Amino acid sequence: MRILVTYYTPTGNTQKIAQAIHDEVGSHGHTADRKAIDASMPESFRESDLVFLGSACHSSDLARPVKALLDAITPSSPFKQAGFVTHSAPLPGDDAWQNEMYEKWAGMCVKSFEQVCQAKGITWCGYFSCQGAASPDIEVFIHQTIVPDAEAWAVYAAEMRKHPDNEDREKARAFARHVLG
Ligand SMILES: Cc1cc2nc3c(=O)[nH]c(=O)nc-3n(C[C@H](O)[C@H](O)[C@H](O)COP(=O)(O)O)c2cc1C
Repeated sequence: MRILVTYYTPTGNTQKIAQAIHDEVGSHGHTADRKAIDASMPESFRESDLVFLGSACHSSDLARPVKALLDAITPSSPFKQAGFVTHSAPLPGDDAWQNEMYEKWAGMCVKSFEQVCQAKGITWCGYFSCQGAASPDIEVFIHQTIVPDAEAWAVYAAEMRKHPDNEDREKARAFARHVLG
């Protein structure tokens, strides 16, 4: 298969996941290209059998350039699509607060991907996301408006700053294997 791994990554976290996905698909003998989204999209989508499209999460959703790119995709394009995102919100888990945080601050990303693929008749192959360290200005925003308690913020920030880590990269590789089938 011809596979394109492309992404929007203002601070580099999503690129680390793109690299892991690219390494994995390349190790299965596929012709794989990895690059930041640019003006050659979405034409280069049409030269691919499978596109992994990645985004930083901005304002609870896919970042604006990625949404614009999805809007520009021609309906019934023949390539298949998978999505990946990094977000500062925690992943859903056993903790109700974590789940709420994920839903409110990052839950829209997968829905946006799925909605576009469904509306345009594009085969959707799945979604991967993990936490990604926020930039200093976004840390200030999170601390001031979402996690104001000093102790809770210390725990939250310490965890968030570790990502994406090696485990995230391994999970991204497992996701890529799953998509390849
Ligand atoms: C302008 C802006 C808005 C953001 N909004 C959110 C958000 O709504 N939810 C969230 O979980 N993370 C948010 N983040 C944090 C990023 O999604 C997170 O740090 C991500 O890993 C950045 O990816 P990148 O390094 O590939 O740019 C925001 C970051 C920026 C710069």
